[in-house]
Amino acid sequence: MNDYLVMAGYAAAGAGVAGLLGWPAIVLLRRRSLALSLFTVALVTALSLSASTIAVARAMLLMRHDYAVVTIVLIMGCLVSLAVAALLSRQVVVGSRALTRAARTVGSDDGFTAPAGPLSSELAALSSELAATSARLARSRERERALESSRRELIAWISHDLRTPLAGLRAMAEALEDGVADDPQRYHARMRTEVDRLTGMVDDLFELSRIQAGALTLTLSRVSVYDLVGDAIAGAYPLARERGVRLVGDRVAPAPVEVDSREITRVLGNLLINAIRSTPADGTVAVAARREQQEVVVSVTDGCGGIDEQDLARVFETGWRGGSARTPRSVPTAPSGAVQHHGDTGAGLGLAIVRGIVEAHAGRATVRNVHGGCCFEIALPAASPTAPAPA
Ligand SMILES: Nc1ncnc2c1ncn2[C@@H]1O[C@H](COP(=O)(O)OP(=O)(O)OP(=O)(O)O)[C@@H](O)[C@H]1O
Ligand SMILES: [Mg+2]
Repeated sequence: MNDYLVMAGYAAAGAGVAGLLGWPAIVLLRRRSLALSLFTVALVTALSLSASTIAVARAMLLMRHDYAVVTIVLIMGCLVSLAVAALLSRQVVVGSRALTRAARTVGSDDGFTAPAGPLSSELAALSSELAATSARLARSRERERALESSRRELIAWISHDLRTPLAGLRAMAEALEDGVADDPQRYHARMRTEVDRLTGMVDDLFELSRIQAGALTLTLSRVSVYDLVGDAIAGAYPLARERGVRLVGDRVAPAPVEVDSREITRVLGNLLINAIRSTPADGTVAVAARREQQEVVVSVTDGCGGIDEQDLARVFETGWRGGSARTPRSVPTAPSGAVQHHGDTGAGLGLAIVRGIVEAHAGRATVRNVHGGCCFEIALPAASPTAPAPA
């Protein structure tokens, strides 16, 4: 019995030395790879078994022993390895529980709160991934909030913009019904103008919703930018003549572009109408087009006197239309049918449509101030040189 106790002492001493060496290794590896920690456990197990076996074997040289000795050696070795493995498991469990608790904070208003204690490198990587995901979530939530509030704002503006001319139309219709309109012909013309304007606004809203929903399908074809500008100038000419504004389009290179011509004609039309509306009588609106590497840049320069620097970044926002109050361009009043003019702005959709269509073509729409006015530019993808030149 005494011999067994001595054997146990030898085995415990051998395994204990290996275990004591393994302990700081496990503590040092707390922040390292989990695989490395597990390997260390196995190593410590093997070392402790070997150490205890060697210790007992040396002792066996002095004394003759039976089969029970080996059993005692193994039990001692296993006890130490199990203790080390339990320690490691506890470390892993504590780390993963802390990370699980931290994961519940992903997407919370305060953002992700990383666990305070040390984590293995795998759990630390997971924790930083969760932090990045939480930050992305917060950003997209912020974008969504901004989009939602601008959508709500737009609906409020549009309802206002629609309500006022509708009230005018109703008043004019009632005046005609009651026979109190002094000039029915003028009433009819004004009603027609208002209906056209409302139709245009609804059409713009539809186009914008298609753009924002990503439902704009482009039918690309190779056309000359010269033809596109020519069509747009012809369309804007009556308004320019009415306003006494000169329309110049003599610096347009006949470069081919790969675009949806209907949509780009709409873009150019919006830019020209804005430019004509913003330019005083006797002023000039100039359209130019130049080839630049893989792009064709079309510019519309007006004589508006320039846009405030802080407003330049906002002109393409949906619904933005300068500092003016949201009052429709013309408000008919009954029963006289007199029309009050409240500035020269529309619904603020035109440039949002311009940017949406141009970006759907993988192009860019920009604005900058130039001497005496401002210059809107759209960069469109040039048609590949291998294709046949446009007629
Ligand atoms: N060429 C320009 N020169 C000066 N200011 C401009 C010009 N184009 C646009 N703006 C300013 O940017 C605002 C937004 O233009 P946008 O075309 O989006 O809307 P809008 O012309 O007011 O209305 P809509 O185009 O829907 O009829 C305008 O109200 C105007 O204040
Ligand atoms: Mg406009």
